[in-house]
Amino acid sequence: MVTTEQSRGSWNSKLGFILAAAGSAVGLGNIWAFPSKVADNGGAAFIVVYLICCFIIGLPVMVAELSVGRYSRKNPVGALKSVSKHWIAPVTGAWGILCGVMILSFYLVVAGWTTGYIFEEIFYFAGFPEIASWFGALDNGLKNAIFSVLFMLTTISVITGGVSNGIEKATKFMMPVLIAILVIMIVYVLTLEGSGDGLRVYLQPDFSMINADLVLSAMGQAFFSLSLGMGALITYGSYISKKQNLVESATYVTLSDVGIAFLAGFLIIPAMYVAQASGVEIMDADGNLAASTTLVFNVLPEMFHNMGVGGVLAGVMFFLLLGMAALTSTISLLEVPVSYAIDEHNISRKKAAWGIGGAIMLLAVIVSFNINLIGVLDLIFSTVGLPLGGLMISLVVGYLWTSNEAIQEISSGFPGIKDSWIAPLWTIAIKVICPIIIGLVFITTLYSLFF
Ligand code: PHE
Repeated sequence: MVTTEQSRGSWNSKLGFILAAAGSAVGLGNIWAFPSKVADNGGAAFIVVYLICCFIIGLPVMVAELSVGRYSRKNPVGALKSVSKHWIAPVTGAWGILCGVMILSFYLVVAGWTTGYIFEEIFYFAGFPEIASWFGALDNGLKNAIFSVLFMLTTISVITGGVSNGIEKATKFMMPVLIAILVIMIVYVLTLEGSGDGLRVYLQPDFSMINADLVLSAMGQAFFSLSLGMGALITYGSYISKKQNLVESATYVTLSDVGIAFLAGFLIIPAMYVAQASGVEIMDADGNLAASTTLVFNVLPEMFHNMGVGGVLAGVMFFLLLGMAALTSTISLLEVPVSYAIDEHNISRKKAAWGIGGAIMLLAVIVSFNINLIGVLDLIFSTVGLPLGGLMISLVVGYLWTSNEAIQEISSGFPGIKDSWIAPLWTIAIKVICPIIIGLVFITTLYSLFF
């Protein structure tokens, strides 16, 4: 099939792509997972390792993904196949698609929890605590299934709209709203009693906590949060204009993702200590901070409940914020297999979105009734799966397609790259630094598992 820019769809503007990609990146990973990983792992020490992973590994891999995508104008399997004949190329793309599908199947359940909590807050304050706790119960399989299905239907309706009319329009509206809600909530929480203790925990590094586990967790978090390693950015890159500077755009996307995660820390961690000041238990039996799930879905709602009438507004706003952040990410997770079906199997966008979306919906229903699966799926397909995908992508781009070819593609929209320091630096990053660091982290983790 001949795919022109018009028939496959493309972003309307440079900003449209940046917001869509930042929307993919900013999600539950930033607001739900990042702050609690920071709190669990030595505060600012984790942030330092995380930042190193984002800029030394994440950013170069993002540029690699965007360049393959734009060069081939294809989905991850088609894109990697068009830059190399080696079998590892399509396998890398297929592994990415599999990771995306499996991540989406549990991501929908967590996204469903957040939307359920919007109702929990409303019913609690309306004086119906029993109905409220039905909406709030994380292990309520039926409720989980209903909300994850509703979330998927919303995602499918955006995807069927296409690239510029669906994805770009939706994210252009949601991203500014999301940032506004986040900032308002931070300002509010920082005025409450107890928030200072939270700031101290957040910003005081405990470097003695750095070990192999922390580094794997920071690296997995960086790949997950930047939506890397599974081809989301190959796919989004395939809709970018040849006039756009990929290095500059990738830098903006990385900075917004890291910036919003950092901001979310100023909301969540102080909020926990505000909750503690109002009598809520935030430590578990071993004296550690509550785990991420408990943190966002138990501690924060209790804080909202203790806040009086203002609490309903704060609670609804907070869960709306989480829901929107999740939606711009589920959109990108579904777009990857949909673009694969469109490009490789000539299926229409509508059929692909409903067919694949429907199948993933079934997986999400299974996870809804078995929430213990979330941890397992997260470990296999994101903490390990995404860096592994990133490792394979850097090898395919760096050695099989070759970094010179990639730089040739990047130079469209950024002609100066060939003579600048960015070209050799990116080449070393993608051919040497990324594979070695990711490989070392895997080897050390395996070693520490067995010995
Ligand atoms: N980056 C998203 C988040 O932080 C999750 C995601 C992962 C989205 C991989 C797309 C691809 O929540």
